[in-house]
Amino acid sequence: MLDHLTVVTHPLVQHKLTIMRKKETSTAGFRRLLREISLLLAYEVTRELDMTTMTIETPICEMDAPILDGKKLALISILRAGNGLMDGILELIPAARVGFIGLYRDPETLQPVQYYAKVPDMLEDRLVIAVDPMLATGNSSVAAIDLLKEKGAKNIRFLCLLAAPEGVQRMKEAHPDVPIVTAAVDERLDDHGYIVPGLGDAGDRLFGTK
Ligand code: URA
Repeated sequence: MLDHLTVVTHPLVQHKLTIMRKKETSTAGFRRLLREISLLLAYEVTRELDMTTMTIETPICEMDAPILDGKKLALISILRAGNGLMDGILELIPAARVGFIGLYRDPETLQPVQYYAKVPDMLEDRLVIAVDPMLATGNSSVAAIDLLKEKGAKNIRFLCLLAAPEGVQRMKEAHPDVPIVTAAVDERLDDHGYIVPGLGDAGDRLFGTK
């Protein structure tokens, strides 16, 4: 069982994250680095997957070799910034089923408003990994996990790039059964719900908007 919070302190992850934080990093650079980091974070979030064995023949002899067990896992992107993590993870887990949850943050209330949801079937039989680069207030993440549970998911993990202590706490209270994997937990949120020091708006930096 993964801990409730795993901070991936691997030097490559930390180095890439620092470059992503820099305000002068270009959209192309930011996108490339997010993809690269997503591979390393995916490695951590997929620890302790169920395994079985199959009998194979190497050029030398027969052996019982380990393989993944169970239904294909479901990867859920929380739009829109979650998409920046998807391609890298899908390279590692090409057979994963993919879903999308669209939530935007009401700028006044900072509460999540759902505008889209399409997720794979049989979520109850799959490991479900929800991805969003930023765990800030935790409101959207909690709402996305609520929705996944309503659709039957029982075994959920949450992968993000950066988290605020407030978001980690909110997730822990609402969904103590959902382990979080992140590259860093920053100091705090500002009055607009941005992570400090953070990296700004992940969606804007990823897609070059604004
Ligand atoms: N979403 C972002 O993109 N950045 C933050 O700092 C907080 C939420």
